[in-house]
Amino acid sequence: MTTSQATLSEKVQFKLHGVKLKAMGFGLKLMPIRDTQVFTGATGIDELAKKIGASNLRKALIVTTPGAVKRGYSTKVIEALARCGIDAVVFENVIPDPTFTTVNEGLAVLKANHCDCAIALGGGSVMDAAKAMIVAATNDKPVEALMGMRKGKNNPLPFYAIPTTSGTGSEVTNAAVISEDNAEDGTHTKRFMIDSRTVARAAVLDPSLSTSLPDHITSETGMDALTHAMEAYLSKLSNPESDALAIEAIGQIFKFLPICYEDGGNLEARQAMAQASLTAGKAFRKVMLGYVHAISHQLGAVYGTAHGLGNAMLLPLVVDYSKEKMADKLAKLAIATGLGTTQTDDGQLAQLVVDKLTSLNKQLNIPSQLEALKAEDIPNLALRSYAEALKIHAAPKYMGKRDIEKLLTNLL
Ligand SMILES: [Fe+2]
Repeated sequence: MTTSQATLSEKVQFKLHGVKLKAMGFGLKLMPIRDTQVFTGATGIDELAKKIGASNLRKALIVTTPGAVKRGYSTKVIEALARCGIDAVVFENVIPDPTFTTVNEGLAVLKANHCDCAIALGGGSVMDAAKAMIVAATNDKPVEALMGMRKGKNNPLPFYAIPTTSGTGSEVTNAAVISEDNAEDGTHTKRFMIDSRTVARAAVLDPSLSTSLPDHITSETGMDALTHAMEAYLSKLSNPESDALAIEAIGQIFKFLPICYEDGGNLEARQAMAQASLTAGKAFRKVMLGYVHAISHQLGAVYGTAHGLGNAMLLPLVVDYSKEKMADKLAKLAIATGLGTTQTDDGQLAQLVVDKLTSLNKQLNIPSQLEALKAEDIPNLALRSYAEALKIHAAPKYMGKRDIEKLLTNLL
């Protein structure tokens, strides 16, 4: 049994967090959430354009990256929109871990061109930046002041998403992560916007848009989706609905992520991963996440570690930390995903899940050591992770700062 080394004062904070979490869970349960219309396959972009045209919208801001423009994806969207009588303007300067500066630049383009809706064409960073833009477009406040829980008084502009990676699930979630611009020491802090009105009205899952992703982006984003599903499944706020979504996503990712990694052009596997990422997004959006995200966000903030890579490296370690406490649920998961049978006891089945996460990382060439990590940074990383976990997450077993420090030493 992994025994927590939490201090007495941390244990008091855990108790207080538990009370706060109950209230948050109740609020999330009651929160209405839009059911995103999903268009799949090669005709998806045309169907999305028709839907936008039928909504009497006339000018779209396409939020994207230079890579998506270069590969011709934005032209495809512009042409489909034009056939439905909709003008479009492209903002292509979204960077990984978008900052408030990125959002403000896109917002200026949106306002100057009088856009009445936005389409995110890209991965999680693009979708997050676009979500912040549509909220800021209708609320006369600095973007920074709109971070937090539903801070915009007015409804955001209509929002649509065309994901080009299969990982974030941001098209169906109520969350967006925006980074503060770098501090003098080169680090940055991530800020969160939680607003159910930013769930996309419709999304396109077209597998051909992800076939040219570099292998490491396929594996890292796929492991982000797996982390969403695992953390939702183990969340203290989980419920039968989120559990069913999480199990479905985990099974699909176990099956199809290695295929996408080995054979990037496999459209069936790409389609399945796009769907699994969306399903994982639905699984966690009302039950929150856990320590994998709390710690990974700090690795991103301090070292610029890619979100999915940090998650992938941390996932087996964090699940291992909670495996005795969550043996019953992990055993059910092992059986549901074909890792074990009812003849095996819960403890062994839980270990099979941890082993599977470790072997999946190996299969995807995810390193087990983080090169950038310095031993002297670990106390600060643990402090930051500890604070985030008690703010916005719902992990099944609390970690004190020393527990997080100990876990991080595994990555040295
Ligand atoms: Fe994530």
